[in-house]
This record gives sequence, structure tokens and C-alpha cells, in this order.
Amino acid sequence: MRMLKMVDLGMERQFFGPKLENAILQVLEHTQYIRGPEVNAFAQELSGYLGGIHVTPCANGTDALQLALMALDVAPGDEVIVPAFTYVSTAEVAALLRLRVRWAEVSLDHFNLLPEGLEKAWSPRVKAIVPVHLFGQAAPLKEIIDFAREKGIAVIEDAAQALGTEYIFSDGRRAKVGTLGDIGCTSFFPSKNLGCYGDGGAIFTASVTLAQRLARIANHGQDTLYEFREVGVNSRLDSIQAAILRVKLPYLDEFNTRRRAIADIYDSYFKDIAALQVPARMPWSTHIFHQYTLRVLSGKRDELRGYLQQRGVPAMVYYPAPLHLQPAYRSPDYPEGSFPQAERLAREVISLPMHPFLSEDQIAYIAESVRDFFR
Ligand SMILES: Cc1ncc(COP(=O)(O)O)c(C=O)c1O
Repeated sequence: MRMLKMVDLGMERQFFGPKLENAILQVLEHTQYIRGPEVNAFAQELSGYLGGIHVTPCANGTDALQLALMALDVAPGDEVIVPAFTYVSTAEVAALLRLRVRWAEVSLDHFNLLPEGLEKAWSPRVKAIVPVHLFGQAAPLKEIIDFAREKGIAVIEDAAQALGTEYIFSDGRRAKVGTLGDIGCTSFFPSKNLGCYGDGGAIFTASVTLAQRLARIANHGQDTLYEFREVGVNSRLDSIQAAILRVKLPYLDEFNTRRRAIADIYDSYFKDIAALQVPARMPWSTHIFHQYTLRVLSGKRDELRGYLQQRGVPAMVYYPAPLHLQPAYRSPDYPEGSFPQAERLAREVISLPMHPFLSEDQIAYIAESVRDFFR
């Protein structure tokens, strides 16, 4: 059996073979490494995939969040609501822009922001909410957007782990996440469901004005060469990465479907183990399983991880601490105990290998290894 990895980019490389080489070679031939034709072409193709929204490519998912906040004219001292249990990027860019983060509690079932947590986190200085669609499943967006509309603030969706996830409205209507808030952000980090082979990101908005502003800020604040209208940043998706993404985008749905099928198999192995909670599927969302994340309810998460490691099964903890307890983001306003559910998740979660090229043998070996631990 092939060595197990959380994400197997070697298998992916074999799958795409010469398609990738040809795409990269074309860039080497025309030599427009920055702002080559692939960047615009990819932006348009991704826009089509997302239902026609404006797409501004940028250098990475963290920049996407920073650009989004800058385009909304948040000012130092303004506040943003962020889930306490997520990746660091939102907190980081908020700190860089001198904003104050108001953390909000998350769900033990779907790991995302809880609508009840928003009211608790609210203050009149809040200018935006940044829901994260963690692990590939949508946050309860309708409630979040309704709350934001009522307060007159913006919603910036962090869809870095959820490109292709669909939000399902109560009338059955569906829309891709990242397209429903005022601005959506994503990352093309290599391990993402749509990843490039370096860093990359993109920002989505339905507003032409915001799209123009985002493109300007991402390009040093200039619309016309050497005319700097505002302070911007240098945040570009490069041509080689765009060329790679153009090859991979047409396979995104197929790969997401395969991830879902693998998750179903994992579930079937684990659902009778009382000490494990399999990932909940919420009625308002499809799940694209960027991560397959279990909760270990018996307090033995770290032992399980060690046991799996001995058997050659990698497993990761996303994330080992909630952000309000991380050294860089601690504040006396949010002592330990402020968000019991986020803190509990950090002790209980474990993610198993998940990628579209897992073989049946590999899935069975991983799942049996988990079962053996609980036997
Ligand atoms: C939820 C979330 N937000 C933001 C990011 C940042 O993306 P990047 O690594 O491209 O800066 C990531 C992933 O890395 C992420 O998982």
C-alpha cells in the first residue's frame, strides 16, 4: 500500500500528468510571469463556476481577507466578529489593520459560528462579521447575513476551505458559499480542495464598485500605471499558478464528490463507536470535506493520534487551541473559559487523511486502525 498522507499531491500530479506540464510550459514560452493571460482567463472561469460573481485573484487567502477589510474602509479601532475556533488569518489581518477582534462562540456539531454568539459578541463599533466555512461546510449564513443587515454591517465570508460548497436555502434554492456575503475570500494553498502549487487566493463580490476597488488595492492602489490613488498592497496570483488552477478547476466538483463518498465510508466505520462523533451534515449546506474531522469524546484524542502514527496513519489536529487563547491574540477581555465550546473542540478534534486519490485499501486501513484503537 502506498504511504499514507493527509493530502497526496504526488497522486494528483500523476493524475493530471502532461496537462500540467503543458500549462506551465505555455507560461515559460510567453514569459509573462506576472499578469499573464492565464490570470484573467482563470478569474473568468472561476466566476462562471461561482455563478457570475466578480473574481479578483490575489496572492493568498490571508491577503484576500486583508484586501476585503481594506475595501470596506474599516478604520483603526473598528471591530470585527470572528469565530474563536478557526485558522489564524482573520485575527492576523485584523491586528495588522489595527482592528479589534470580538470573538464569537462556535457549534460543537458543525464547528462554525453560532447565530446566538453574534448577539453576545455585538458592539456598536463592529463593522463586519467574518464567518468561516470550516472544514468544507457552510456556516449558518442566512442567520448571519440577516443579523448583519439588521445592524447595517458587512459580511466577509472566509471560503478558503469551502470552494464548491453550496448553501441551501429553506426553499431549496442553492448558491455557492463565498457569493452570498458582501465579499467572499478563498485560498489556493496546495492542500485546499482547489489548490495551486505555491500560494494563491481570490476575492469575490457581486458589487462592481467593490470589485474595482479590490483590484486597485491588490495592485498597489493604482488603476493606471504609476498613478497611486490610495495605499494598496502587492498581492497578485502569478501566471504559472493561474495556469495550474485552470487545469484543475474543471475537476473540482468531481473531486469534491469523491471526498464526500470517502467521508460516507469513514462514517460507516465510526458511527457505532460511542466515543467518536462523526462530522455532522447540516441541512443548510453541502459538505465538501476539506477535512474529515472527528470529535473524540473520551478524552483520548492525543492517544488516538499517537496510536495512528505508530500504524503509519497521519492525523492532524485542526486546531489545537482556540484563537482567543493563542499568545499573540490573548487579551484580559477573553480569559480561558470565555468560549467553552471552542475550547472543548480544540481538545477533542482530530482530522483523518482526506483527498480524492485515497484508494479503497487505504480508506479501510485508516478506518480499521481507528476502530482498533477503540476495541
Ligand atoms: C479558513 C482559512 N482562512 C484563511 C486561510 C489563509 O489562506 P492562505 O494560506 O492562502 O493565506 C486558510 C488557509 O490557509 C484557511 O484555512
